[in-house]
Amino acid sequence: MKLLDVVQGNMEKATQLGLSQQTAEDASFDGRLVTLRGNQLVNFASCSYLGLEVDARVKEGAITAVERYGTFFSSSRAYLRSPLYRDLEERLDRIFNASVLVTPSTTLGHLSALPVLVQREDTLLLDRQVHASVQMAAQIVATSGAQLGFVEHGDMDGLEEKLQQHTGRGRVFYACDGVYSMYGDVAPLERLAELVNRYEHFVLYVDDAHGMSWRGHQGCGYAKSILPSHPRIVVAVSLAKAFGTGGGALIFHDSSLRERVQSCGGPQIFSGQLAPAVLGAAITSADIHLSQELPWLQHELSARIAQTRSMLHARDIAPVCGFPGPIVFVGTIKLEVSMEVARHLQDEGFWVNVAGFPATPRNGAGLRFTLSTHVTADDISALCDSLAHHLPRALDKFRLTTKRVSDAPAYKRVTTWPMAA
Ligand SMILES: Cc1ncc(COP(=O)(O)O)c(C=O)c1O
Repeated sequence: MKLLDVVQGNMEKATQLGLSQQTAEDASFDGRLVTLRGNQLVNFASCSYLGLEVDARVKEGAITAVERYGTFFSSSRAYLRSPLYRDLEERLDRIFNASVLVTPSTTLGHLSALPVLVQREDTLLLDRQVHASVQMAAQIVATSGAQLGFVEHGDMDGLEEKLQQHTGRGRVFYACDGVYSMYGDVAPLERLAELVNRYEHFVLYVDDAHGMSWRGHQGCGYAKSILPSHPRIVVAVSLAKAFGTGGGALIFHDSSLRERVQSCGGPQIFSGQLAPAVLGAAITSADIHLSQELPWLQHELSARIAQTRSMLHARDIAPVCGFPGPIVFVGTIKLEVSMEVARHLQDEGFWVNVAGFPATPRNGAGLRFTLSTHVTADDISALCDSLAHHLPRALDKFRLTTKRVSDAPAYKRVTTWPMAA
């Protein structure tokens, strides 16, 4: 069966069960609840991990920007940008202690950066599980004549072998995620930093969309909290997840590379500007990141993560990645099992996601839920109880056991968080 037929088939099944392609019925959002078919569900699928999207100050930042600059500034950024970009990038430079370029989204950031960074004589290696948005940009890179290749997920020995064998003129780029969006596992960044130091022809490109804000000094993110500032390391982040606003950003060690992507990166020239509401909200969110409040928000999230991990452990449920991010993935091998569990969870008041191939490896489907500061200790406790009730029954119904799931090859190749994390 063709890949697109598989995707469409799964999507249709999930849609019929009320698990995908749904529209919330709420007249307003508080961050914690969403309404579906008249039922209020606790939202365990938000990527706004720090709850900033409903923060009164962030909303006010958006409103003030609209009042001053209107709903949109309709001009190509190549000619004239809104002054709000300057205000935001100046703050992001301070958060990352680097040269930052704001992009309309993370996807458009990859589409701007990778075709500019990777030259015809270079090789671009992709981690097998790197986000689809990077894979899409890689297709454009390939049209320039650059070589494209894959490295098995997190396989640093395999990557190093390729670096040693490289005899071409050009450089070798390796693209991976900082925090992987499905299993919540992480790239082995210490080892990658070592490889950057050891091989002068090696360039590292990290998509840290999910690592941003909830981790690192001033919310600089998982990747930037570990990687050194280096001319051969570029990190992309999202402002549309824990940052709570919208858009993306590219982080460069030196400003000349930033200027090059700004001047030549396709979507930076021809795709529309972020709306004043988004930029105004982002400026306020950046101010919160730079304040004493951020560590407190990060601590609030960490407490919920710790509670969830210990409650799952007490119920013999082992997430695919053990420790300690806000993305929790419980393997079920088959997508049907996760759909069955998610349906029951929805009946009991919880909105969680199901995921399968190609978002996960083959036979690596499961339930994916996320934690945010919106959910309460009681919410987490109730979700863990429901999961502990329904998961074994659903596995049994599909003739699977916990042991078969934990032994499944799809879940083996994850890099868990460094224990010091
Ligand atoms: C790792 C990763 N990269 C990129 C994206 C795409 O982000 P955007 O919506 O800003 O294009 C996502 C979306 O969830 C993601 O998880």
